[in-house]
Amino acid sequence: MDKFVIAGGTALKGEIPTNGSKNSALPALAAALLTEEPVTLHRIPKVRDIRTMQRLLVDIGSQVEVDGDTVRMLTPRITSPEAPYELVKTMRASSLVLGPLVARSGRARVSLPGGCAIGARPINLHIFGLEQLGARINQAYGYIEAEAPDGLRGATVHFDRITVTGTEDLMMAAVLAKGETVLRNAAREPEVVDLAEMLTAMGARIEGAGTSTVVIQGVERLSGTEHTIIPDRIEAGTFVVAGAITDGDLLVTDCCPEHLGALVSKLQQAGVDVTQPGPTSLRVRGRGRIRSVDMTTEEYPGFATDLQAQYMALMTQADGIAMIVETIFENRFMHAQELARMGANIRLEGRQAIVAGKRELTGAGVIASDLRASASLVLAALVAKGETVIDRVYHIDRGYEKIEAKLAQAGADIRRVE
Ligand code: EPZ
Repeated sequence: MDKFVIAGGTALKGEIPTNGSKNSALPALAAALLTEEPVTLHRIPKVRDIRTMQRLLVDIGSQVEVDGDTVRMLTPRITSPEAPYELVKTMRASSLVLGPLVARSGRARVSLPGGCAIGARPINLHIFGLEQLGARINQAYGYIEAEAPDGLRGATVHFDRITVTGTEDLMMAAVLAKGETVLRNAAREPEVVDLAEMLTAMGARIEGAGTSTVVIQGVERLSGTEHTIIPDRIEAGTFVVAGAITDGDLLVTDCCPEHLGALVSKLQQAGVDVTQPGPTSLRVRGRGRIRSVDMTTEEYPGFATDLQAQYMALMTQADGIAMIVETIFENRFMHAQELARMGANIRLEGRQAIVAGKRELTGAGVIASDLRASASLVLAALVAKGETVIDRVYHIDRGYEKIEAKLAQAGADIRRVE
């Protein structure tokens, strides 16, 4: 298992580019199942979860050709409308093929995702929505079987809680349904908007993506398209925090600053100098001190849960006490114990974490537990005194492409060891 060895104490300087968004690429790949025509996607990041999704799509019947960060897909027919357990257990976002499979072939057999490190993460709302659209659902032997032999029909689906991939799954199911579908309390994430733009380019009729009410008029069929994925706001946000925690002067390029409004605002409240020199870049400069500022995670456009762990690492260096509340997932503080091994002073009480700042961190052996928790350990190691060894970095490789190379070229002393 690969490890990262990091020697802390270097202020990051220079530029770090942002890749395409993993969480936008995953639904976009699944959306290619909706047409028998060619689909070309640009800015697809080379990360584990994307490779897993590509394997799944090939099993389903797609021809997938990877050419740098471009992926070309052709799905003449669905040969196996299944997402098997051995794939789904490694990536829960496999449930994103549920909607497209039922819409395109009238049936789907998708493994239930099972548990996840950060929380129960059921897909009951995906299933509820498909039932509302007329699919017959059977759950047995760890699988969801959905059938709609006569096709789906439009309906109103009210999500009692906001779900990003639930919104994306149902949007993909509805685009070929008969009649109008209304998704209420829909997720407003940029990745939902990006998917809607891709589907619209394929001939879908969607209004309101990016708001909490999305209206879809079903169409007979969808054509192929060529689509460029939006930048990864979580990767970009992680690097902005890296510039802040190392008191550096870092330009994060090829990103979309408006997708990071909540993070930028929070960092400015904490006294970090964050500016937008251009339409696709953010500049972060340390000012030598960081104020402790409370933070509560919220659905977009609030502060992203996927940046909570990174913010917690930063607050270990702030000058007071910060209260962090995680409202989206029930177990997303696993990084806290590892940060404590490095000297952080964090008290957990349910969904709340109280972070006492101005703690000098010292390098230690730590273990990555989930994708974003791992990123927070890298950030802490960049500022810790001495050497940190992070084990199980395959968690990081799920969502960050060559993070160690990107950080090293901005001055970090980080290397990957087999
Ligand atoms: C997406 O996961 C992201 N993944 C996650 O990013 C992100 O943390 C999450 O949205 C929240 O922003 C992708 O887009 C591939 P949800 P998703 O459905 O869609 C509950 C990363 O680090 N819920 O919005 O699975 C659920 O348990 C990953 O890249 C139900 O109860 O998240 C959670 O508490 C981690 N029933 C809350 O809703 C359902 O049917 C939000 O989950 C669905 C969700």
